[in-house]
Amino acid sequence: MTPLVELKGISKSFVGVKVLDHVDFDVRPGEVHALLGENGAGKSTLIKIIAGVHAADEGEIRIGGEAMKFANPGQAVKAGIAIVYQELLLFPELSVAENIFLNHAPRTGWGGLDWAEMRRKARALLDDLDSHHLDVDAKVGSLSVANRQRIEIAKALSQNARVVIMDEPTASLAEADVQQLMTIIRRLRDRGVGIVYVSHKLPEIFALADRVTVLRDGHYVGTKDIKDVTERSLVAMMVGRSIDQLFPKEDAPIGAVLLELRGVSQGKTVRDVSFTLRAGEILGIAGLVGSGRTETALTIFGITPATAGTILIDGKPVQITSPQQARDLGIAYVPEDRGLQGLVRPQTIAENISLTVLKKLARGFIVDRGKEDSLARDFIKRLGIRARGPGQAARQLSGGNQQKVVLAKWLAAEPRILIMDEPTRGIDVGAKSEIHALMSKLAQNGLAILMISSELPEVLGMSDRVLVMNGGRIVAEIARKDATPETVGAAMTLVQEREAAA
Ligand SMILES: Nc1ncnc2c1ncn2[C@@H]1O[C@H](COP(=O)(O)OP(=O)(O)OP(=O)(O)O)[C@@H](O)[C@H]1O
Ligand SMILES: [Mg+2]
Repeated sequence: MTPLVELKGISKSFVGVKVLDHVDFDVRPGEVHALLGENGAGKSTLIKIIAGVHAADEGEIRIGGEAMKFANPGQAVKAGIAIVYQELLLFPELSVAENIFLNHAPRTGWGGLDWAEMRRKARALLDDLDSHHLDVDAKVGSLSVANRQRIEIAKALSQNARVVIMDEPTASLAEADVQQLMTIIRRLRDRGVGIVYVSHKLPEIFALADRVTVLRDGHYVGTKDIKDVTERSLVAMMVGRSIDQLFPKEDAPIGAVLLELRGVSQGKTVRDVSFTLRAGEILGIAGLVGSGRTETALTIFGITPATAGTILIDGKPVQITSPQQARDLGIAYVPEDRGLQGLVRPQTIAENISLTVLKKLARGFIVDRGKEDSLARDFIKRLGIRARGPGQAARQLSGGNQQKVVLAKWLAAEPRILIMDEPTRGIDVGAKSEIHALMSKLAQNGLAILMISSELPEVLGMSDRVLVMNGGRIVAEIARKDATPETVGAAMTLVQEREAAA
């Protein structure tokens, strides 16, 4: 069977650094081919080469058996290759139908846009993806991530894509949306579409993939049938060693209550939330996307101050109306969206990490660059940040490594209370267990950690206690010994049913 796409000996360098070194990869009709590897291994770069965004320095690309060179993404689209990016590239002000048919709208005999035909075709494409609920006239800006992703997929299909590439498509999806996306992917596969699937979530890989290809440090490690690998052997291929423990949670002495919320509300998004957080404790918050978890964090951190209730630090009521105040009270917040809130992308790694501690690094008004540099080097080593050095621009790092820089920035501030929103989203298995080990160590040193996570294994593996939120409220509190996929899952499903009834 001729592969839909075949890459041979692909190499690529950025500013003299080789990030892909003679990589082979192919996609067959009707398969899901997963592309795996640690942060910075070269996955996104490889798929951008397939999609005509980057040109390879060396190597060969064949489409349906014929050698091709794409000068731009438009040519790849014409050759039947579509890519669904992590940062979805839709136009918020345009309608669903307009976004799907942008650049290739159906025309009337007179050459004008055939709006009726466009809306009809958009409707058919969405129905085909079981997205009957999506209005073709709705503005895209008002839609959820999951819905926008469906529009991207519909757009790919409207261009007759034979290969659909997805780069970490489930990173910001709720569990129910993940299941629906998988159904859609399986349906495309059954119709002969070849899917390239990039993800750090191994359970998804085992549920979906037919074959896997692993990259390590820009090198091709191998391609295997999914039935010939185990989670353990895959991890070993990715990191070049075996990892014994995925959730290295260690017991830490639980100390005094550092943070307490009493009946805290914020508009309609946070409702009457009460809980305590103690030194040495990792408190997990589970819940669906939109359940008020992030909003609770933003309220504690003073970004959207509480409209009712009391926040206490060390048992004393405090008013937190700005992030600066929160920081002065020893609170740090690692946001879920590293792109928007966490990182100054044009600045260097060292400049980003030192942002929270500029005062400590300054001599008079001048930042001590030597100290800034050694602080950054220390974190690069502790967190295993893959970079050329402290002076590299943050935007040049791979997604997962950018996340680690954000984490380093907040740890540098030496907080007493650390709020982490999806701390390992987009982070590879090796780095993930390093970050979890670090969280354990921080807790043992007396830090109080509030961890928001959509990954159930992470919540169960790392939390001393689990809170479940929905509709802005805490609907369950479960001790570590009682927290299982069943108990936490049940609390979450119960919540879903309640939502459906409302
Ligand atoms: N435009 C660029 N300029 C310089 N270096 C780059 C550029 N784009 C990517 N790189 C480098 O190429 C390497 C591979 O990055 P890539 O984004 O392909 O990794 P990845 O496997 O997708 O990682 P992640 O899992 O973190 O998304 C990284 O070291 C990254 O810093
Ligand atoms: Mg990537």
